[in-house]
Amino acid sequence: MRIVCIGGGPAGLYFALLMKKLNPTHQITVVERNKPYDTFGWGVVFSDATMENMRQWDTETCGDIERSFSHWDDIELRFKGRHIRSGGHGFVGIGRKQLLNILQARCEALGVELRFEQEVDSDLDFPDADLIIASDGVNSKIRTAYADTFRPDIVTRPNRFIWLGTKKRFDAFTFDFRKTKHGWFQAHIYKFDDETSTFIVECPESVWRAHGLDTADQPASIAFCEQLFAETLDGAALMTNARHLRGSAWLNFQRVICEQWWLRNAQGSHVVLMGDAVHTAHFAIGSGTKLALEDAIELVRQFRDHGDTAADIPEVLRRFQELRRVETLRIQNAAWNAMEWFEVCGTRYCDQLEPEQFMYSLLTRSQRISHENLRLRDRTWLEGYERWLAQRAGSTSTEHDVDSAALAPTVPPMFTPYTVRSVTLKNRVVVSPMAQYSAVDGIPGDYHLVHLGARAMGGAAMVVTEMTCPSPEARITPGCPGLWTDAQQAAWQRIVAWVHEQTDAKIALQLGHSGAKGSTRRAWDGIDRPLPDEGVEPNWPLVSASPQQYLAGVSQMAREISREEMDGVREQFVAATRRGAAAGFDWLELHCAHGYLLSSFISPLTNQRTDEYGGSLDARLRYPLEVFTAMRAVWPSHLPMSVRISAHDWVEGGITPIDAVEIAKAFKAAGADLIDCSSGQVSKKERPTYGRMFQTPFSDRIRHEAGIATIAVGAISEADHVNSIIAAGRADLCAVARPHLANPAWTLTEAARIGYTALAWPKPYLSAKPQLEAGFARSRERA
Ligand SMILES: Cc1cc2nc3c(=O)[nH]c(=O)nc-3n(C[C@H](O)[C@H](O)[C@H](O)COP(=O)(O)OP(=O)(O)OC[C@H]3O[C@@H](n4cnc5c(N)ncnc54)[C@H](O)[C@@H]3O)c2cc1C
Ligand SMILES: Cc1cc2nc3c(=O)[nH]c(=O)nc-3n(C[C@H](O)[C@H](O)[C@H](O)COP(=O)(O)O)c2cc1C
Repeated sequence: MRIVCIGGGPAGLYFALLMKKLNPTHQITVVERNKPYDTFGWGVVFSDATMENMRQWDTETCGDIERSFSHWDDIELRFKGRHIRSGGHGFVGIGRKQLLNILQARCEALGVELRFEQEVDSDLDFPDADLIIASDGVNSKIRTAYADTFRPDIVTRPNRFIWLGTKKRFDAFTFDFRKTKHGWFQAHIYKFDDETSTFIVECPESVWRAHGLDTADQPASIAFCEQLFAETLDGAALMTNARHLRGSAWLNFQRVICEQWWLRNAQGSHVVLMGDAVHTAHFAIGSGTKLALEDAIELVRQFRDHGDTAADIPEVLRRFQELRRVETLRIQNAAWNAMEWFEVCGTRYCDQLEPEQFMYSLLTRSQRISHENLRLRDRTWLEGYERWLAQRAGSTSTEHDVDSAALAPTVPPMFTPYTVRSVTLKNRVVVSPMAQYSAVDGIPGDYHLVHLGARAMGGAAMVVTEMTCPSPEARITPGCPGLWTDAQQAAWQRIVAWVHEQTDAKIALQLGHSGAKGSTRRAWDGIDRPLPDEGVEPNWPLVSASPQQYLAGVSQMAREISREEMDGVREQFVAATRRGAAAGFDWLELHCAHGYLLSSFISPLTNQRTDEYGGSLDARLRYPLEVFTAMRAVWPSHLPMSVRISAHDWVEGGITPIDAVEIAKAFKAAGADLIDCSSGQVSKKERPTYGRMFQTPFSDRIRHEAGIATIAVGAISEADHVNSIIAAGRADLCAVARPHLANPAWTLTEAARIGYTALAWPKPYLSAKPQLEAGFARSRERA
């Protein structure tokens, strides 16, 4: 085959040499606009795993790289006058110039033709090529020329960064954060050879402008950075090697994703994008070069496995795209979280977190490194942090079970206590409210005693009742419980008393009104489907903030609730609150999420009112806040109240996480103690992005930007998740729903799974504890 690589960066060069090695009869040319040994940039990093992958494909290149690279293990944070270090992070750093020189030399040794100082304008300049690799970098001309086919999605990110170098060597990957009068800057610093370190300085656009860096030339920018990071530079200078760039040299990161990766051009040649031309990964996780090299490896693997003649090209490219798209999206998602962390850290974390927790948040920024993974990397550091966190939370392992405390020198974050008002929860796990549709006339029965009782025995610090309703019409289904009669109050009192007498768990009452989503069948008879108009359990009329039908063409039409009715509903909530207090509940949660009545006021998708309860967010919040305030006034002041909200409607024009921060601030001002951060279920047009812990970012944002404690919920299904959420300060509590349906003793089980044995079990169950713990201990040893 005749193959041309446009662009001699890591992608083009590595593909060329591997392909030539695979079959020396291929004629391969790399065309590069720069001179040989002339390249921008300082060091790049990749992980030990990437090196291993490269070793399998070409031991010579790998050996040369290994002889030139700097390897280091530690990450050091410099923040608020402290230096904190953790190990086990395994990186390799190499000068970009050095890397390219190694690849160029290897290409030449294998017989690849390298043409330098040749600018390529079009793939059509190579009419004889069977295959053209468009490895022409992030600003790829070839991708732009065929944008209709490749359909690139390019997002320019808001932070500004400048890529500098210094002769000062650092023996750890160093992150340095500095506060200025206009905001925070951060430096990402890593050594890449015996003499030089990369020094990337980054800040938000607003901070950059406020310092006049938008009009500063390169020497002025460098002088600014030298002064800002003087303490860390310790007299060393910062250097640029981008003098050929005009202007300030501060860049914005461009995130590139392409729908299609290859095509056949007008001359019949196949053109395939590779490396930064087809996808980019933010330097926050340093994977751009890794992705470029792995693209090259994958394409060569496909030619090896499926034939390397011109006739095989379409099938090979199809497979290449299919495999690499998924893998790069995965890495891009992780890079996205890490990138966002650096974009918001100045406003969300730097001022709010103490250095110890800031370090943890920094290390887990991509949400790919879990708590247990940190333990594997550096047990001493992690356990030190666990002790620090436990001390802050006022916990000692001996509080739980003196006998086994010696086996558990630290308390995992999940098992630290949490105090709000007069209530202390023994750990951070809450059984999330879950409708059971099993009440009769709104009265919770033996079913609820067993259901909630079993979960209260299962290790969680608190069980929350399912949405309980202040009136018959407020119910979702005829099977939903209520709190508007003496009989219901007595039934709840019995359950609360049982939980208090038999367990050390707390029990919370969730109160809510179904609004437009009421008068439906029990979930297993058709969730959200209306009741029949006649029969034993006929439909009842619905109200909502504005007229609406939840399921288009299916649900009953809800009419707009009148001002007078709003007063009535508020008083029903107040009466149910009084009954809840009388029944002995420890905690009260107001349900303002999921499209129910109070949520329907908050979301612009369901509130089109023209009175003072519609319009701006403030106006839409007015009624839910009136209800909350009236409840707070009668709920005992020593007991906490939380509010569940939908922090994202997942619909264009609906509530966004930015609104959620304002919603949280409003409830905080009205006396809420915590915000329970759920999302969605407001509109059937929603397009949520699911994934493990998918709603936790909302909790994180609300907690730090609104300054209120939060409950994270949604796809939290392992102790590892809870530990990392609590340890990073992304929430104060974790609500776990579905896992508790499968296993009432979820918390006890998870404790045993991670080897945390200093946990009190219900006495009658104690004989099961060592057996469960031994089973998990064996599994951990095997793993
Ligand atoms: C500040 C910063 C820090 C980074 N840090 C890291 C890191 O630590 N680890 C990491 O893995 N990655 C890092 N990267 C990313 C890394 O530089 C790229 O992801 C990687 O180089 C991609 O390789 P590539 O071959 O696809 O593209 P490039 O390396 O951009 O190569 C493209 C080549 O094509 C040439 N070219 C472009 N157009 C033409 C044309 N029309 N004609 C001829 N030649 C052309 C260019 O001159 C260039 O040599 C960083 C990037 C930045 C900006
Ligand atoms: C069967 C079931 C019933 C639910 N009922 C309620 C409810 O009454 N009130 C509420 O706020 N959320 C309710 N939810 C939502 C859960 O509390 C929780 O937010 C959601 O299931 C995500 O958590 P998970 O991934 O741990 O299941 C319910 C969820 C399930 C599965």
